[in-house]
Amino acid sequence: MGTLTNKRVLVGVTGGIAAYKTADLIRRLRDAGAETRVVMTAGAAEFITPLTLQAVSGHPVHEQLLDTEAEAGMGHIDLARWADVIVVAPASANFLARLAQGRADDLLTTVCLAAAVPVAVAPAMNQQMWANAATQNNMRTLRARKIHVLGPAEGEQACGEIGPGRMLEPLELVARVSELFATGELEGLKVVVTAGPTWEAIDPVRGITNRSSGKMGYAVAAAAAEAGARVVLVSGPTALPDPPRVQTVRVVSAQDMYDAVHSHLEGAHIFIGVAAVADYRVEQAAPGKIKKTADRLTLELVRNPDILAAVAHRRPHIYCVGFAAETDDPEANARAKLASKGIDLVAANRVGPGLGFEADDNELLLVDRDKSKRLARAPKSSLARALIHEVAVRYHAESRAQDSRQASRN
Ligand code: PMT
Repeated sequence: MGTLTNKRVLVGVTGGIAAYKTADLIRRLRDAGAETRVVMTAGAAEFITPLTLQAVSGHPVHEQLLDTEAEAGMGHIDLARWADVIVVAPASANFLARLAQGRADDLLTTVCLAAAVPVAVAPAMNQQMWANAATQNNMRTLRARKIHVLGPAEGEQACGEIGPGRMLEPLELVARVSELFATGELEGLKVVVTAGPTWEAIDPVRGITNRSSGKMGYAVAAAAAEAGARVVLVSGPTALPDPPRVQTVRVVSAQDMYDAVHSHLEGAHIFIGVAAVADYRVEQAAPGKIKKTADRLTLELVRNPDILAAVAHRRPHIYCVGFAAETDDPEANARAKLASKGIDLVAANRVGPGLGFEADDNELLLVDRDKSKRLARAPKSSLARALIHEVAVRYHAESRAQDSRQASRN
């Protein structure tokens, strides 16, 4: 597994001689497991052809802001929402100035302005242009806005001068982009996550299940691992590959999931139940395939154990997060679940067209005892990272409060 497996990297290319290295950068990003899309400025196209970047990225290159055909396909807002990170390499002095001013006068600046994901720039220019007070002022503005500045390196430049202004080499850029995902917020902690549906057998070939694909739960597990946690993912039947750096335990039924969760809870600090667990199972699955001889068939269903409620009840020191798929009034339903299951946080998602079950996107309403917070619609991978950040903040606040209560008792 590469360091960027399942990551969507939008590569921006601006006009500079280092643009010839961007083809290699894209190849290295893909070697590290990333999916890549490219946006070029008009200046970049003077240095490297869109065809070259299309060939290495595997997708048509995006160039025009006001192109009705392109906007009907993947327009500027879709590109901004598609990306997990935007990396502009090389980033010219002109582009950095326009970014610092918040301009939206071409496709690349507009995508950067519309993006809610990290933006990284790899400056490349003549050393005197880099040293110029105007450029340094722009860099201060960009850093203050949490834009990641990768480089520049020092050395001999294409213009023959020596100094800072060379674009970082592609391999170093890949390493630095990978580091952007490693937040360290859950370093040293163990997190157990459930994902996917469960399958409750009726007979050897039929069963009761639901439409959960596992996408949300797998994204949560991957985000927790990126945040530095040791992660165990207990997954019902899905078609997804194991997430990188996560111990994945495959199960079938709710009872299997319950058993697997409980056998992996030792040393756990956080439990996140994303699975759509079947509430009922057939009391006695038929040992052989049921024949369709009778006009009616009655199945006797019995309740499955509630995995999340049991973890919260038996292991009160574990910070417990539940999900809730709701069609109406998510806040009230989430609050009811928070209380009935005795958990710390509920992530409620509306189910509907393009959201929730099976979809690539989701939106969440986080509800804890004190407040609620909306995480806007986004691809499940970025939403999972935002959720893990919120969980980490609450977990650490809770531990600090517990420590000070303990200290005042001693
Ligand atoms: O997998 P995807 O296609 O990406 O879809 C993601 C999702 C929509 C399934 C996910 O985001 C989600 O909402 N999961 C929870 C579904 C739900 O409504 O579950 P629930 O209301 O039945 O249960 C509430 C909570 O209790 C959940 O955390 C669930 O994991 C847990 N639970 C429920 C029943 C049970 N027997 N054991 C449990 O642990």
